[in-house]
Amino acid sequence: MSDKRAPIFGFTAVFLILAILWIWYPFGTPLLFQSTIFPLTDNAERTQSVYAMVYWITLVIFLVVEGLLLYTLFRFRARGDEKAPPAQTHGHTALEVGWTLATVVLVLVMYVPSCAAIRYHQGPPPTPNPLVIDVTGRQWFWEFYYPDQDLTTANEIVVPQGRTVLFHVSATDVIHSFWFPRLGGKRDAVPGRTQPMWFTPTELGDFHGQCTEYCGSSHALMKMDIKVVPAADFDAWVAQQKAPSDPAAMAGFGVFAASGCIACHMTMQNDKTVLHMNGPNLMKVATRGKIAAGILDNTPENLKLWISNPQHVKPDAKMNVPAMQCTGPGTPDACCRDVQIGNCLPDATVDQLVAYLEMMK
Ligand code: CUA
Repeated sequence: MSDKRAPIFGFTAVFLILAILWIWYPFGTPLLFQSTIFPLTDNAERTQSVYAMVYWITLVIFLVVEGLLLYTLFRFRARGDEKAPPAQTHGHTALEVGWTLATVVLVLVMYVPSCAAIRYHQGPPPTPNPLVIDVTGRQWFWEFYYPDQDLTTANEIVVPQGRTVLFHVSATDVIHSFWFPRLGGKRDAVPGRTQPMWFTPTELGDFHGQCTEYCGSSHALMKMDIKVVPAADFDAWVAQQKAPSDPAAMAGFGVFAASGCIACHMTMQNDKTVLHMNGPNLMKVATRGKIAAGILDNTPENLKLWISNPQHVKPDAKMNVPAMQCTGPGTPDACCRDVQIGNCLPDATVDQLVAYLEMMK
């Protein structure tokens, strides 16, 4: 291959790959679990309907334009026996008016349904009795409060199948953005503002969400999950979350308090009185599937890893172990030089904390 032809082959290869991906899209399967093009709610379906319409219109335009281009390139290519340049066309009023009008019509065809969809999403929820959840974005976790149930949880939402959920989205520190790609459009979480957003989950299962507004060093580690369960299971979940934890767990509370954890985390109650503590509510943390805002599976090993060295799991996490813990047998030296890096708690203390949190169910 000559040096002159190499860029043409590269360009053609990229073009073909993009074209295949583009044409593949409507026939694909939801391989990507955080994908907007496989919607599961009324809200997400409406967005996708606009997206699909734009896709099909632009696909037809693409095929027509590229077809004409390829035809012209082939049909009128130089054959080596030309005596002079071919006849030139300067101006063609009918053509120019035609493609200008066609473009205006196409834009209108896409503009009107887009506006209708925006109006639909910004409007009130479609049912009169939605489940309300107050969402608060924090660096770097999500706090969820169910006002009707007077219940606080973090990073994991449980909702009943078939009932519209109305979220009131806000933040306490910087701007975050609340997004479950398969369930609904994103909504910015802005300090000092509360913005509504709703969707009606109809499919049972666990779905993933993600903060989608850059909010600091651990923005990418600010994930969340939503579990869509049958209505009866939702009622049982609420009852479980409201019930006191095992009284035997009280034995571990002393360590939890003495280690400074209670400065930011609550384990004894999860009602409105403990909203907006510095850290996530941990009253029923053992019932959650993930810890550290969707980063780690909720296992004793991962809890230990997280408590031992939060900065390692989530850079700049605002989970620091007090300097007073940097004494006593078994305390690594490194933490005493910088209490924000490394394990400041003796291993045995971490084990006691893990055992305590494992009883929070
Ligand atoms: Cu919170 Cu990005």
